[in-house]
Amino acid sequence: MATAEPNKINTIGVLTSGGDAPGMNAAVRAVVRRARYKGLKTMGIYQGYDGLIKGHIKELGAKDVSDIIGRGGTILYSARCPEMRTPEGLAQAAKSCNDAGIDGLVVIGGDGSFAGAQKLADLGINTIGVPGTIDLDIACTEYTIGFDTAVNTAMEAIDKIRDTSTSHERVSIVEVMGRDAGYLGLWAGIGAGAEDILLPEKYDYDEQRIINNIIETRRKGKKHHIIINAEGIGHSGAMAKRIEAATGIATRATILGHMQRGGTPTSRDRMFGTLMGAYAVDLLVEGKTKRVVAYKNGEFVDFDINEGLAMKKQLSDYEFEIATTLSFKYSKN
Ligand code: ADP
Ligand code: F6P
Repeated sequence: MATAEPNKINTIGVLTSGGDAPGMNAAVRAVVRRARYKGLKTMGIYQGYDGLIKGHIKELGAKDVSDIIGRGGTILYSARCPEMRTPEGLAQAAKSCNDAGIDGLVVIGGDGSFAGAQKLADLGINTIGVPGTIDLDIACTEYTIGFDTAVNTAMEAIDKIRDTSTSHERVSIVEVMGRDAGYLGLWAGIGAGAEDILLPEKYDYDEQRIINNIIETRRKGKKHHIIINAEGIGHSGAMAKRIEAATGIATRATILGHMQRGGTPTSRDRMFGTLMGAYAVDLLVEGKTKRVVAYKNGEFVDFDINEGLAMKKQLSDYEFEIATTLSFKYSKN
């Protein structure tokens, strides 16, 4: 039986959506340069799905993506777009692609952005997702563009907070991003040697246990006590007040916030942005659609978006156990 010819792609559009992440520019550059290398036209779509619906689309040549690989943020801007969740918004987004002659679309973003990409694919737009989020919370991939830079930013900030925390012999609660996921908190907490790490997946809300830890480590001579609190738990300010009242030790809360999303991307984020962006173009050229690029077991692979979105990811019990047992409070001397 003769197999159907894959759809021939002429013009690739690229957009960034959801929370921006360092390394997204490397991915945009790779999409444009790889597509140009393959003889395709490339269009930049500005402000994510919002810009797609409104037709904020402009041709991007190889030169337009010069000198962006080392820049944080995204030159295409990003947005959250509630309209994309409506049938009308979705239809308008598909129409914009057709009007601009875009027959292959690369969506760089997180799970939410992929849900939109999957619906666009159902409307006949060849679409590929590239994982870009500092949260590392996309189940089908072991890496998401932006995580490494964000975790290093958070870790360096915690190191700085530790200096002043030690000088004043205080307890410090540092709240890190990650939405409902604890990856950023776990990695930043391990990297900075935090005394306690509270993650949505693991925290039992036993605050008395934390208070006892603080009293015990102080008794053993520790001059500071750093608690990493993930955004999914939140309420760091109120927690600090309660801990100060219970321990009698001055306690401060710092919410790191959006600084974690900015800054110069690390080499890892430039590398993953580049390879995943180029891989997305290659998939489109092969006639593939409704796929998400992923990194698994040391290789770049791709999954059906539906299957990718249905996968579940679990924070490592072992990594969490190590983080907990290396804390000073467990040391015998
Ligand atoms: P992320 O992509 O980082 O997970 P969001 O969850 O905010 O970020 O999603 C980004 C955008 O993707 C949303 O603002 C919306 O435009 C689109 N989106 C999210 N979920 C859906 C959905 N179920 N259907 C269609 N579009 C969606
Ligand atoms: O998904 C990335 C992220 O920074 C999350 O960690 C955080 O919960 C959210 O985006 C914040 O979104 P916004 O920038 O819209 O406030």
